[in-house]
Amino acid sequence: MSTMAAFCRTAAFLLRPAKALPYTLTAARSCSSGGQYQYILVEKKGANQNVGFIQLNRPKALNALCDGLMTEMGQALDAFESDSQVGAIVITGSEKAFAAGADIKEMQNRTFQECYGGNFLAHWNRVSTVKKPVIAAVNGFALGGGCELAMMCDIIYAGEKAQFGQPEILLGTIPGAGGTQRLTRAVGKSLAMEMVLTGDRISAQEAKASGLVSKVYPTAQLVEEAIKCGEKIAGNSKLVSSMAKEAVNAAYELSLAEGNRLEKRLFHSTFATADRKEGMTAFVEKRKAIFEDK
Ligand code: HXC
Repeated sequence: MSTMAAFCRTAAFLLRPAKALPYTLTAARSCSSGGQYQYILVEKKGANQNVGFIQLNRPKALNALCDGLMTEMGQALDAFESDSQVGAIVITGSEKAFAAGADIKEMQNRTFQECYGGNFLAHWNRVSTVKKPVIAAVNGFALGGGCELAMMCDIIYAGEKAQFGQPEILLGTIPGAGGTQRLTRAVGKSLAMEMVLTGDRISAQEAKASGLVSKVYPTAQLVEEAIKCGEKIAGNSKLVSSMAKEAVNAAYELSLAEGNRLEKRLFHSTFATADRKEGMTAFVEKRKAIFEDK
């Protein structure tokens, strides 16, 4: 182990929160190239250490998304984005809460001038601009900004007791990080309107039925399954995965004709990669492809 790695391990141990985390994950490390994190735990998971793992770690506030937490989230994502070993990222919370929303106590006394002038929440977008695939593993509450954070990810897996909601209306405000837009695209107008206008929550099962989440797992199994999905994705070409992600995301932004044109160009582009050649050659030679992300 390098001196730096040893330092980080020791520092992470000393910085671990007093309250034990509910998951029996391998010991979490709060270190990366940038130093220590206060509000999140960050490490690499998977047999090949190719899944970046971010766990929100404000258990007493049900992982309310304070400014510091979202700043750290951006830093951790930047670090994983530039780590060539990492091919997918998992974001999770605790068994009780993925995140109970933006931090209401922090927002309570903000003025319009501060919000508008300071471009409040602008940095949250980092989650949706990551090129590598991001999986949200949602146990417990995913409310307000918590639901929006999950929806900024590419895939949502839910624990069977998860609850999704946009309760901002009960606070006299509305969703501000994509809730009215991404939720509507995911579940359709009627359900999105109902959730946004009443503040009512939906269960994991309703979220699955409406297309908000792709899989529901028993609570204790959720994170492991999300990491497995991350490993599966990271085993493919990272370069081509980013192209696939870009193409799917374009379906939200472009007309069908424009989207199909973009898809075709990206498909053509894969023929400029060594990984496309390797993938097809491996099939013909009846062996497993070895992708080198180039
Ligand atoms: C700050 C929060 C919080 C939040 C919970 N807490 N949610 N603090 N911001 N969003 C704190 C509580 O104040 C309390 O701390 C502790 O977490 C435990 O919460 P309880 O309410 O005691 O727990 P429980 O009774 O189990 O109820 C859980 C809950 C409830 C149903 C999730 O906490 C709740 O309704 N939270 C607010 C959910 C919400 O409205 N989210 C939207 C926020 S607005 P203390 O120290 O007081 O005991 C938003 C805007 C998004 O997200 C805009 C763009 C990002």
